[in-house]
Amino acid sequence: MKIAVIGTGYVGLVTGTCFAETGNMVTCVDIDEKKINKLNSGEITIYEPGLEKLFLRNQKEGRLHFTQSLGDAIADAEVIFLALPTPPGEDGSADLKYILGVANDLGKILQPGSYKVIVDKSTVPVGTSAKVRAAVLQSSSQDLSEAFDIVSNPEFLREGVAVEDFMKPDRVVIGTASERAIKIMTELYTPFVRQGNPVIFMDEHSAELTKYAANAFLAVKISFMNEIAQLCERLGADVDMVRKGIGSDERIGKRFLFPGIGYGGSCFPKDVKALAKSAKDADYDFKILQAVMDVNEIQKQHLIPKIKAHFNDNIAGKHFALWGLSFKPNTDDIREAPALSMIDALTAAGATVAAFDPEAMKNTKNETGDKIRFAQNQYDALLDADALIIATEWNEFRTPDFDKIFAMLKTKAIFDGRNLFDPAQMQKKKFHYESVGRPAMV
Ligand SMILES: NC(=O)c1ccc[n+]([C@@H]2O[C@H](COP(=O)([O-])OP(=O)(O)OC[C@H]3O[C@@H](n4cnc5c(N)ncnc54)[C@H](O)[C@@H]3O)[C@@H](O)[C@H]2O)c1
Repeated sequence: MKIAVIGTGYVGLVTGTCFAETGNMVTCVDIDEKKINKLNSGEITIYEPGLEKLFLRNQKEGRLHFTQSLGDAIADAEVIFLALPTPPGEDGSADLKYILGVANDLGKILQPGSYKVIVDKSTVPVGTSAKVRAAVLQSSSQDLSEAFDIVSNPEFLREGVAVEDFMKPDRVVIGTASERAIKIMTELYTPFVRQGNPVIFMDEHSAELTKYAANAFLAVKISFMNEIAQLCERLGADVDMVRKGIGSDERIGKRFLFPGIGYGGSCFPKDVKALAKSAKDADYDFKILQAVMDVNEIQKQHLIPKIKAHFNDNIAGKHFALWGLSFKPNTDDIREAPALSMIDALTAAGATVAAFDPEAMKNTKNETGDKIRFAQNQYDALLDADALIIATEWNEFRTPDFDKIFAMLKTKAIFDGRNLFDPAQMQKKKFHYESVGRPAMV
């Protein structure tokens, strides 16, 4: 099948590459000239495990192309995926300017005689499919009413395991009333659900809401556990034990119960906000969502008072090693990363920071400039550091050389925002060790 993917970011590049991998001819479009030039010269633009190999193979075999021209990309395409940004607008709602802008452009190019399925993969509020349809129809001087169908096909991939998630999705959600579009979408997705995972067909509104409901529910789980962790610290309980105790109940499940310094990324923060705004617009006060956002903001700063207390409430002139910048491991994505909030809080209080992250240093540098030092490796970050702070649970931080850390740190203090180490072991090694929801070893 011939496919166009509009928007070649995290979702677009993974979508395009994985569809090419199953034999489709894919053309990805982006307005970012630098990005398209890089991709065309065989250079991958994001870090995502396993993606580069598939990207290079499919490009070499002529199934994966990149262009800045929307017209060229959709000329022969039967299916057009929209993988465009939907950032939060000022009022928290999803800003649809990218989606509707492209819908307008499509209206000017589409021809009545050449049927296409326009698939929305971006996360968008209920009613967007109808807006896209209206925008396409209005911007055309021809009658396009039979020339296309709109499908809502929200994407559930997780950054860090995006290729695996795309190639073997838990489920595929397809929202449309069009039998013709259903047939095409079924054909396209059949290779991805051979193990029997469901393709769930529904109306557009339900498909659009499903994505928000999924992300908001996961955010609820995270904020709930972060509040339990707060309570553990006050009542002398250990959140690890509580987590294990509740996670073995099948109704609760083991996953997504790890407390930490808050969720980040390009999805949870904006999607929870957008769902709250959608609810408000529908005259419904979705109370849990506001609580989830409030808890997350508090949690992002959870370590700061502990760090300050360790230095008698004055960290001016202190120097910190920071391990981890990305919002979670195995990605270079730093959007809304808790590490960035921590850098702001530390430097605002007069401290300096040397950071190391296996993949996210370049993106962070673009954001922070020379506000912090970027270290060569995790131990280089410890040079002259008064204490170590951990913000992302990269695997390589899990079993470090503790003797080396001890020798390098001035105050032997570790503030662990991801609960990587065993508190009892840290006590044995004579560290000052504070984590989230577990007894402090001081
Ligand atoms: N990142 C994720 O993990 C994830 C997962 C599921 C769903 N989503 C949703 O998917 C959508 C895209 O997210 P993303 O993380 O891939 O965003 P992104 O910012 O990484 O990529 C978007 C791309 O679209 C391009 N673009 C903007 N306007 C364009 C235009 N007019 N024509 C062509 N290209 C254009 C940008 O240059 C950019 O490369 C969002 O709605 C997001 O909520 C993201």
